[in-house]
Parts: sequence; structure tokens; C-alpha cells
Amino acid sequence: MARFHRLRVAAVDRLTDDSVALTLTVPPHLREEYRYAPGQHLALRRSADGEEIRRTYSICSPAPDGEAPSTLRVGVRLVEGGAFSTYALKEIDLGDELEVMTPAGRFTLPPAPGRYAAVVGGSGITPVLSIVSTLLAREPEARFCLIRSDRTAASTMFLEEVADLKDRYPERFQLVTVLSREEQQAGLPSGRLDQERLAGLLPALLPVEQVDGWFLCGPYGLVEGAERALRGLGVARSRIHQEIFHVDAGTASVTTAPAPAHSTVTARLDGRGGTWPVRAGESLLDTVLRNRSDAPYACKGGVCGTCRAFLVAGEVRMERNYALESEETEAGYVLACQSRPVTETVELDFDR
Ligand code: FES
Repeated sequence: MARFHRLRVAAVDRLTDDSVALTLTVPPHLREEYRYAPGQHLALRRSADGEEIRRTYSICSPAPDGEAPSTLRVGVRLVEGGAFSTYALKEIDLGDELEVMTPAGRFTLPPAPGRYAAVVGGSGITPVLSIVSTLLAREPEARFCLIRSDRTAASTMFLEEVADLKDRYPERFQLVTVLSREEQQAGLPSGRLDQERLAGLLPALLPVEQVDGWFLCGPYGLVEGAERALRGLGVARSRIHQEIFHVDAGTASVTTAPAPAHSTVTARLDGRGGTWPVRAGESLLDTVLRNRSDAPYACKGGVCGTCRAFLVAGEVRMERNYALESEETEAGYVLACQSRPVTETVELDFDR
């Protein structure tokens, strides 16, 4: 069950002009709760002007082997006008306490031998850095190919950390950097990484059919383009994992289904249940939140997956889903923040 605790900031490292890495100390009695899989994220919460703001940030540090973590490091990039990232870059200081949710997210790779690859854009490197560094340290038989794109070298997050991996694992780690706004040395690609570019580039870099898992992370356009390129190259959907960092408002496809005039949601959360009427226009998460302030969520935008719940009974319509894999939706999971009732009664289980 997701919970918030106050954790102290142990370090603030400026990565680029518009990004920082925050290191948080986990006191011994909370360490088990913050055990994480490489690729997971943390939601941070604060109140500003009487409103609660939550944002999720991916953990960039490798997951400790066996031990529970004593620190957590996340990457934060400034989003223009972003209420949390502006605060993180301009105000958060050493010794501050932040409200931090326990780790969540299923964009993960438990270390296993094999060949893996990632296509990332901008701050999409953050979870993948944790995935690669954990994998290469723990699995001597694993190989990883990272294709990353950014605007310029100066705007690239975790440049040094990624270069260190290249030095440490020259045989098993392959790195390709594509800069969209900067000329590179001869022979290195530049420009935008879109579906067409990737469809040509990927087979030249590695034996695509031998890759056990693909990890796509970054803005919607890049992730979508990379997925289409991979599907075009014959890669099975089950080998592609994706996490989207930004979705423009216009990209949502809203399906309309008749909504019942009156409906109720029954939800089970942390072992306790309740049944409440759904108000017109609100999502099932909002209904539950009005009655149970501990309902889990972070983005309310269908992106982070924190509000995932199992649909026990009834039918819902999801407005958008950039978080759940198709196996999860087929198994009956929904995003509560995107779900509206189609049947008069709906039952959700947040504990499954
Ligand atoms: S709260 Fe992020 S997907 Fe629902």
C-alpha cells in the first residue's frame, strides 16, 4: 500500500541548467518500505496556495542488492510553469524535509541475463539509468544498448553517470547519443529521433530480433514513434515496455459511452471497503478520494499508474491510458483516475 513519509534531503546536485538530482535519506525504520525495483518512481507532494500538488520522479540510483536502500536519488527536470519542478529547482535545499510516497511503477527490469535495449528522450534517461546500472552490476551475462536523444550536450541529464557506465562496462554497454540541435562529430547521428530514423538506425546498431526487452521512455511522440518502429521491425508487443513523461492535452482520445444517471463505486483500499455515489462527471478516483483521502494517485493524467486498481465488478470507460501494459488491462486492471462508470455499480480493489 502506497504511503507518504517525510524524508530529509541529503544532497542537491545540479545536472544541467534546468535539472537537478535530489538525494533523500531513508531512516532505518522506513527502509523496508522504500525497497524499490530499478525503474520505479516516487511521488512527491506539497501544498501551495491551499492546493495539494503531487508529481512523480523516477529513481536514478541503482537498486541495492539484497539490502533495503538507505538513500534514494531522483532526477527532476524543470517543466515550464511546472508547480513542483520550479520549487524543486529554485527552493529545495540540503536538510529540507519532503513528503515522499513509497516507490511505485511497473516500468522495471529485474536483473536477468540477456540482451536489452532502451530508447530514451530527455529526462526519460532517469529510470533507465537505474535499470542499466543495476543490471550491468548484477548480471555479468547481460548486455545493454542505450539510444538517447536530447537537444544539446549541455542539456543532457546524467552525462557523467552514463559515461562512467561506458568506461566500466565497455564490452557490455553500447551507447548512442543523438542530439537534435547540435552538430556532432562526423559519423554520429544528429536530428530528431522519429519512427523513420529509428527504423533505419536500430537494425544497424544491434540484432533487433535477439533483444529480450525494450525500454522506451520520454515524451509521448518519441515513445510512440519508437514503438511503431519496433513493431514494424517485427518485435513482439510483450517485449516492449514504455513509460511516457509528458502527454499533450490534445493527444488523449476520449471514447464516449453512455453513462448511467446514478452509479455507485465500491472500493477496497488497505483492507477496508466502502460504497459511495459517483457524482456527475467525476472519475472513480475522485469519488474514492472524497471519502478516503489515502487513495493512491500522483499524476491524475493516466501516465504514472499509481492509481491502478482491479475491476472486480461492473464496467468502466477509461479516457486515456499511458501507464498500463495491455496484459494488465486484459487481466482486469484499470486506472481509477481515468475511469468513469458505464454500469450502475462498479467495484474496485486497490489492494490487488
Ligand atoms: S494517478 Fe497517475 S495514472 Fe492515475
